[in-house]
Amino acid sequence: MESDIQADSKIKTERSKRTFNIDEIRNEFPILKRTVNGKQLVYFDNAATTQKPQSVIDEIAHYYTFENANIHRGLHFLSEVATESYEQARLKVKEYINALSVSEILFVRGATEAINLLANTMCRAGMFGEDAEIIISQMEHHANIVPWQLMCERKGAQLKVIPIDDNGDLIMDEYEKLISEKTKLVSVVHTSNSLGTINPVKEIIDIAHKNGIPVLIDGSQAVQHQKIDVQELDCDYFVFSGHKMYGPTGIGVLYGKTEMLDKLPPYQGGGDMIRTVTFEETTFDDLPNKFEAGTPNIAGGIGLGKAIDYIRSFDMNDIIAHENKLLDYATEQVQKIDGLKIIGTAKEKCSVLSFVLDGIHPYDIGTIIDTDGIAIRTGHHCTQPIMQRYDLPATSRASFSFYNTTEEVDKFIVGLKKVISMFK
Ligand code: ALA
Repeated sequence: MESDIQADSKIKTERSKRTFNIDEIRNEFPILKRTVNGKQLVYFDNAATTQKPQSVIDEIAHYYTFENANIHRGLHFLSEVATESYEQARLKVKEYINALSVSEILFVRGATEAINLLANTMCRAGMFGEDAEIIISQMEHHANIVPWQLMCERKGAQLKVIPIDDNGDLIMDEYEKLISEKTKLVSVVHTSNSLGTINPVKEIIDIAHKNGIPVLIDGSQAVQHQKIDVQELDCDYFVFSGHKMYGPTGIGVLYGKTEMLDKLPPYQGGGDMIRTVTFEETTFDDLPNKFEAGTPNIAGGIGLGKAIDYIRSFDMNDIIAHENKLLDYATEQVQKIDGLKIIGTAKEKCSVLSFVLDGIHPYDIGTIIDTDGIAIRTGHHCTQPIMQRYDLPATSRASFSFYNTTEEVDKFIVGLKKVISMFK
């Protein structure tokens, strides 16, 4: 089956890329046409979740309308169609991140479940003894902190944290100092959801590997903004969520090198992950099924595959250029505002702009600007240690996607000025 799918997918990959036409793109995201509080929606909360193109929405409706059946189980027509669509989606993920094989692509609920799966199974595989250490960074999302803390509580292992400097860059010298023979894993975020920092992940991986340490990369805020090649990175694990890359919620990916995943026990037990079951003993299926117990989010997987088709219909360089243009323009504009401080001024950034305004709480900024139909996120962004690092209760965050425009940035700046004038 795989070779047919591969041939089909190859044809699609070889299709020429679309011209980057912003009006055409915006037209493909139906929600962008709606009004909020009587104003045209300006959606700048893309780091929390992205909007969905019509093709993804249609694909999910198509699945439920014409293909709905359980997968990997039935010999009947619909079950085979649903299985084919779901496995085709897995192949699309494999190609998108350039994994070596589809068996290295595990569908999970999202990046959070992927990291919990790893923390749990690595722990059960005996990879963390009492004096084990795991290196994470100060800019991790809670999803890459708490699962390890829970595991450390059980095993007595310890977290070591790579600090960040005032700009929001990792202090790489400190990273090297943290590595020791006790280090069992390095688990760092590729791109920070709060600061926008793009970390030197290749360097991080190479340093860890020189010391024989496996590396997990949280790519939730990277896969939609740049090309990811897991073979080139040589990371051992890479995780991300579908909903942050124009796909549905409740679906995500755990990539793992075959030799790494083979060493881990199953995460959950149930149907579809076994080879044989007796009351005395169960034997498990091969990858990826071993980690996919129960009926999965079939529509979610298929929707994610369609989101990947959508992204791949563009040249990624066009997406990057447009998002960089938005970030540069917005950065230049907010810098002209008295009393505004950008939090996160790293050398390499994705299109995330966190900031604070003198004397105005981020929640007030978010609430007032929302009355103009402008959606930004305010709070700690599930990264409380970053807030502690900058001694802040919260920030306001505008995060841009390739469907946003500089005209929307102008509206956002007008909105911010209105907030400031209300507090004068
Ligand atoms: N982690 C998501 C964010 O950055 C929800 O907003």
